Amino acid sequence: MRCICFRNIIELDEIDSTNKYVKTSAEKLPEGTVVFSDEQTAGRGRMDRLWYGKKGKSIFASFLIKNIYDNLDAVRLSFLFSIALKTFFSKYISYERIRLKWPNDVLIDNKKISGILSEYSKECVIVGIGINVSDFEPDGDIEKPWTTIQTESGTEPDMNALRSELTEAVNGVFMRYCTNQLTDFPKIWFREADIRDNTVTVDSGGNSFTGRVKMIDDNGALVVEDSSNGEIKTVYYGDITINDQF
Ligand code: BTN
Repeated sequence: MRCICFRNIIELDEIDSTNKYVKTSAEKLPEGTVVFSDEQTAGRGRMDRLWYGKKGKSIFASFLIKNIYDNLDAVRLSFLFSIALKTFFSKYISYERIRLKWPNDVLIDNKKISGILSEYSKECVIVGIGINVSDFEPDGDIEKPWTTIQTESGTEPDMNALRSELTEAVNGVFMRYCTNQLTDFPKIWFREADIRDNTVTVDSGGNSFTGRVKMIDDNGALVVEDSSNGEIKTVYYGDITINDQF
């Protein structure tokens, strides 16, 4: 992977979705652009879900990486951003409480605090990050338990500080791992996430089974041994529940 430094920072007041904005303006934007928006009116999550947040209480950010020729690299890169988030949160929440959940969620005591939506479009990867900073009333239903930095740390951090800390954390992992291949990133994430042998229930497109996590492959797919018959299954897409908890 090339060493990329995100230093072209764009700050918007309001946008439908920072990912959509970066995707549609990618040709005009240099690599290493990060777009932050105070407010996001139509934020999107994985699996066509909506992503909720509030002005002054959430971080909405999208990072642009150019000259990527394999759409699987969008997935591989997303793991690097998850690792950066662990460093980012550790300033506010103790490191042992921060858990990474496949593929890209960050959880604190089984509650989601951040999510990543990585997209591939026209030889670009757009990595969108949503972070729950302070407690807010969401405009719609958030299906699973969630939390905020404020709840978990007892402080309401400064939004500007958070933005630069996030950018720094991302630049830090790019510096650290830029001599690695993109195909190494899922395995680096797997070590950080520490989920080998965890029992998970996998739900991908209506098919559900329970099994034990064996490894992650170079494409970021989770390899799970089905408990009912010992069959090894590769999960490319979907949601998992770890130990019946989240
Ligand atoms: C998920 O957990 O499902 C991923 C959520 C990603 C949300 C972020 S907020 C900034 C960027 N713009 C979007 O529309 N989505 C991502």
